[in-house]
Formats: sequence, structure tokens, C-alpha cells
Amino acid sequence: MSFLPKRDRLVAYLVLASLLLTGVAWLFDPGRDATAHAYPAEASFSGGRPAGGSFVLVDQDGQPKTDGDFRGGWTLIYFGYASCADVCPTELATMVGALDLLPEEVESDVSPVLISVDPERDTPALLGEYVPQFHPRLTGLTGTPEQLGPVLQAYGVVAEKRYSGGSAEYSMDHSSFFYLLAPDGRLQAVFHPGLSPEALAGGLSRRIAES
Ligand code: NI
Repeated sequence: MSFLPKRDRLVAYLVLASLLLTGVAWLFDPGRDATAHAYPAEASFSGGRPAGGSFVLVDQDGQPKTDGDFRGGWTLIYFGYASCADVCPTELATMVGALDLLPEEVESDVSPVLISVDPERDTPALLGEYVPQFHPRLTGLTGTPEQLGPVLQAYGVVAEKRYSGGSAEYSMDHSSFFYLLAPDGRLQAVFHPGLSPEALAGGLSRRIAES
């Protein structure tokens, strides 16, 4: 850098040094997730991304549905439940809003799915009333606790009953992510909650386009 005037040389050295320090800090950041993608809409998991996996459940028409039924196209899964007062309706609206923003030929290749975290109350009949309120192609899946338990585990979903005020009524505390399955069934991306429809649509487009 001897071709630079003395003061500019100093600035150049300072810039280099700060870049180096940033790099070193990044390498040694204990919160850094080695599996994290640089994509801002995607969730990062310090213990590694959940593996995802197969499922055998029942849809809102009472018909058996497996992950295999969704192969060949993209699948966007949200885990929630019909009597959720707040978070689920918001996130499902974001999901539908994001789909609406995708180009028609991409949108039609994505199957939106709601998998219940509340098998006790979410009967196929109840999901049959619930899911069409959001999207005509939204599939609602439920099952016995024995069927759902391993699915929640495979996707790293946390769901827990919460009773309040001595009432017999409960709500479910649950994690709230979107899971994008590739046409071959592999879990391709996990998007975090609280996104705008635009941000989710952008994340989906990028993942679908790069495949
Ligand atoms: Ni919810």
C-alpha cells in the first residue's frame, strides 16, 4: 500500500484490521450456528436444524395422509391448533399471504399444511371447519397422540398444555416455525415466526429457485 499517501495508508490498515477482528469474533462466537444459513427469514438452531421426517396422519376429511402424498411438489408445514386464539391465526394468515405473493406457477406447486399440536381437540371435523377459513388448499392434519408425538419430535416442535385460572380449558404453548419440504420430502428450510408475508415469500422463492 506504499502507493497510498500516509494518512490513507493508515485508514486502509485500520479497515483491514477491523475486518480481521470481525472475522475472528465470528469464528469464536459461541452463539454461531454452523448449520445456519445467511438467509434472514430462516431460523437458526444452536443444536443443528431438526431433521424432519415422515408422517402418517389423518386429514380434515378423515382420510389417511402421509408425507408421501405430498411428494413431487413443495410442502409448507405449520404446526398449530384450531382453538389457538392469537399466534396460529396470525402465522397462518402470513403463510397464505406469502403464497399469494408467489408467481402463480410457483404458488400452485406449494402445498400448505397445518399439523395439529392439539390432538385431543383437533378432530378431522373441527379442522374441516378451520382450515378453509385460511386457504382452499390448506390441508389440516391430525392424529392420535401416538401418531403425532414422533412427528413433533422429528420437526423439533415443542407443545405443552397450559391451564389457567383453575379452568378445565387449556391452551397450548407451542413453537411456531414454518417448515419447507422439498419435492423429495427432505426438510429444506425452517422459517421463523413473526415474518411479514413479503419476507416469507422472499425466503420461499429463494429456496425454490435454488433447487
Ligand atoms: Ni398457536
